[in-house]
Amino acid sequence: MEPKIEHYDRDPVIRSEEGAGSLFGDVVENRLSRRDVMKAGLGVLAFSTIRCAKPESTAEPVKTVLSFEPIKGQTGNEVIVPEGFQHDVLLKWGDPTLPGAPEFDATATTGASQATQFGYNCDFVGFLPLPVGSDSSNHGLLGVNHEYINPELMFSNWSRKTVTQNQVDVMIAAVGFSVTEIERKGGTWTYARDGAFNQRVTGSSEFEITGPAKGHPLMDAKNSEGGTKAYGTFANCSAGKTPWGTVLSGEENFQSMFGNGMAVQDEERRANYSRYGVMDNASYYGWEDYEDRFDCGKDPNQPFHFGWVIEVDPYDPGYTPRKRTALGRIRHEAATTFVSKGDRVVMYSGDDALFEYIYKFVAAKPFNHNDRKANRDILDEGVLYAAKFNADGTGTWLRLVHGEGPLTAENGFNNQGDVVINARTAGDLLGATKMDRPEDIEVNPVNKKVYVACTNNSARGLEGNPGADDANPREENRHGHIVEMTETDDDHAAETFDWELFLVCGEPEDESTHFAGYPKDEVTAISCPDNLAFDHHGNLWIATDGQDKSIGINDGMFAVPVAGKERGKVRQFMSTVTGSEVAGPEFTPDNTTLFLAIQHPGEKSTYDEPSTSWPGESGPPRPSVIAITAKDGSAISD
Ligand code: FEO
Ligand code: CA
Ligand code: CA
Repeated sequence: MEPKIEHYDRDPVIRSEEGAGSLFGDVVENRLSRRDVMKAGLGVLAFSTIRCAKPESTAEPVKTVLSFEPIKGQTGNEVIVPEGFQHDVLLKWGDPTLPGAPEFDATATTGASQATQFGYNCDFVGFLPLPVGSDSSNHGLLGVNHEYINPELMFSNWSRKTVTQNQVDVMIAAVGFSVTEIERKGGTWTYARDGAFNQRVTGSSEFEITGPAKGHPLMDAKNSEGGTKAYGTFANCSAGKTPWGTVLSGEENFQSMFGNGMAVQDEERRANYSRYGVMDNASYYGWEDYEDRFDCGKDPNQPFHFGWVIEVDPYDPGYTPRKRTALGRIRHEAATTFVSKGDRVVMYSGDDALFEYIYKFVAAKPFNHNDRKANRDILDEGVLYAAKFNADGTGTWLRLVHGEGPLTAENGFNNQGDVVINARTAGDLLGATKMDRPEDIEVNPVNKKVYVACTNNSARGLEGNPGADDANPREENRHGHIVEMTETDDDHAAETFDWELFLVCGEPEDESTHFAGYPKDEVTAISCPDNLAFDHHGNLWIATDGQDKSIGINDGMFAVPVAGKERGKVRQFMSTVTGSEVAGPEFTPDNTTLFLAIQHPGEKSTYDEPSTSWPGESGPPRPSVIAITAKDGSAISD
């Protein structure tokens, strides 16, 4: 989800699908049928026969049938789960989590109190077992991103014109990241109010800058000790757990927190501000009214401290979090790591904006299984790539390496710091494929394939914009799609890959949809895929963001097998509260609990007239993490 001010970026034009279907059909059918013809030696195939012609996965066996009874799409104010399941609200905005924290009181929150409480707009959720290194499913730490704030739902009579110092303090303390100890007793999850590991990382926390942009002249913002220190993280959307037990969190729509960008006119900064969308005039939130660092005219290098992947150690509250600049500066949705062949550490990340790129990073040093600390700085050295999708179902990872190809001084790239700070521009020069808002990217631990959620792009094909292509097959793509990538030889450090369209989302009766060839009269409508997860059988679980606008039902949680006879059979598992999106899908290691983040409930209404008070009975709605379990305690996906 992106902030209110970003609605242009989210969904700039909502138009009917009329006229889009036939073009889409041509593109997808060409794309799929060519490959299936090659594989099957048959003539042109319709979608329904493509599935039959497709070889099933040759990797480990995948459980192919989900047994829950799908629910129907909803529009109300409740969380709905299938028969036999239940949900509990585990952590709500404002819940006290650090020592000395006061009880939540929306009318009396200060920056100091909010910094000791659970933050706003939870997105990523990661369960980290306790003790560290165990596979406990009853005790652990919940690492949660707090992406942004909805001041109109946090404060009575909110107005940008009258924003106060206290409101700004609260907002800055409400974003970032949190770690909270949780435990399951008697089947119910509760959090530890003063857990020893509990921490909050906010919009003012101290960071160390590492990697090739450390000390770069553009990173030399005020109080940064020559571009080596930074303060704050925000716009933390999705994230990922590393194999060494830290969390990598993506700074996504950081640009919305800055104001007065037009005060900066020198060529180098202006070009970057424009490419990254730093606000020309006033921000929606008004932080720049009270803190100079958010006023570009007063601290023009401050925006270069954001758009990075940060690394936080949930098991060590004393660890100063890092901004890992080798991973590139984009609007990071997620940061998924995977240990591939030869113990190579690979990170995938999408740049969630219209026509932006998919990236990956391959670390130079191998993963050390025996020494957690030896992996500490592994993400500071390696190769950054952007993806290019070819029409024949192959793809190339393009190297974002200074001195190679066009990334030379002639084009303004004097060192690797320039490349990572301007990663989008480097991707432009290399000819990466412009995607339909790539959001979460996850590796299926069972079949090792990589799944990319492209949430939507209603601007594709409109005048002046790129038209449909093979990996983004629909003009005015309101519903999004999911791409399935197979790295060459299942080596995630490879520089080539193959790919398929797995889902092209929407209502099944819409001819432009595609459910991996599964019969469409047996699937559930799904639109705007955002966050992805896998259960222990390798089934894909999909959280959505935007269904209320595209197909008129609340967002939800869906599950779909990726192999076997039910490959492509999408079923709805959960429906969320009005105005909210679903994020952070995370299973416990034993798959008996599914944690979900319910972000921005009541969006588009106000504190004084909320469309819902969920999860309470009155007052403003509170973004919360819920825990879904089966009533009989069995695994969710069995
Ligand atoms: Fe923050 Fe891309 O959703
Ligand atoms: Ca989202
Ligand atoms: Ca997202």
